[in-house]
Amino acid sequence: MDHNKTLPVLIDCDPGADDVFALLWILINHKFSHLPMKLVGITTAWGNVAADKTYANALRMCQFVGATDIPVGKDHRQIESQDASHIHGEDGIGNLSSMLPEVQLPAEEKDSVEMIVEAIKQYGNELVILVTGPMTNIALAEEREPGILSQCKKIIAMGGAVQVNGNITPVAEFNIAYDAESAAKVFNATKNIVLIPLDLTTQMVFTDEDMENSFKNINHSTKQEFMRELTKFTTKTNMMFRETAYDKGFYVHDAHTVGMLLYPHIYKGSFYDVHVETKGELTKWETVVDVRNHARTEVNSFIATEFNKNLFLEAITEDFKQFDFGE
Ligand code: RIB
Ligand code: CA
Repeated sequence: MDHNKTLPVLIDCDPGADDVFALLWILINHKFSHLPMKLVGITTAWGNVAADKTYANALRMCQFVGATDIPVGKDHRQIESQDASHIHGEDGIGNLSSMLPEVQLPAEEKDSVEMIVEAIKQYGNELVILVTGPMTNIALAEEREPGILSQCKKIIAMGGAVQVNGNITPVAEFNIAYDAESAAKVFNATKNIVLIPLDLTTQMVFTDEDMENSFKNINHSTKQEFMRELTKFTTKTNMMFRETAYDKGFYVHDAHTVGMLLYPHIYKGSFYDVHVETKGELTKWETVVDVRNHARTEVNSFIATEFNKNLFLEAITEDFKQFDFGE
């Protein structure tokens, strides 16, 4: 085992409250842990809220942890689709932007798709890409450089609903539904996908108590208050829209991409062939998965279907303890 080997990671996201949990978790490990893992880029997409807001929120999280050296990309496309500001707030982070310092915009505005293409060219089959929003940027990288997605080690994506209801329609999950054509292209382009669908992410509701346990060591009142208020806001909107089937709390959907990357042993699943319906009258945006037990030769994804909740909470809690938010 080459102990000097470092794992390069890029996260493509649409922050969004649960994206914030994923971003902070990976940023913490990038900056404060002993792990031979480095976050080589954060690219942002239209999704929960518009591109300028997801971009600003990613920059805010880098500032929040004091990791402003990490390149952040912006989505420069205009994708007309239904956002999720009703869940995440108009600004995407619980309308709590005013609790955080002003965003320091980089002198040069990097493009998300260019960053993804360049990262795969630079790191090749060592690179892991986490995807916690719509797959717009990922599909455009493949369009720009056909075959490029298969060159990275793996793509760990939160999205889809296999044997549970969707959260946008009875069959469609938000990340897939927002840009189903792009999602369909990605599943047709590569076989190195690890998919974390609603089937898994809705098995655990993150509660106020979990939040207190995870962030009680943040020795910085404003930042701890931000995390507390973000949890409260997202719990309120999740309850208002009956996202969590009346359990008080919210789903940290996107954090599971980081959990799968750093703590794969707490997850279980299997290999399936996944494709996206883009034309159905009642079933458009569905992730169609053949779960029958017949023999098959084509599989493009590992789908995570269950996880150990106690180990997940222990992992995120212990990692968040590891660092000092500073002033
Ligand atoms: O369906 C959940 C997904 O949609 C998460 O990524 C959440 O942030 C929203 O983007
Ligand atoms: Ca997201």
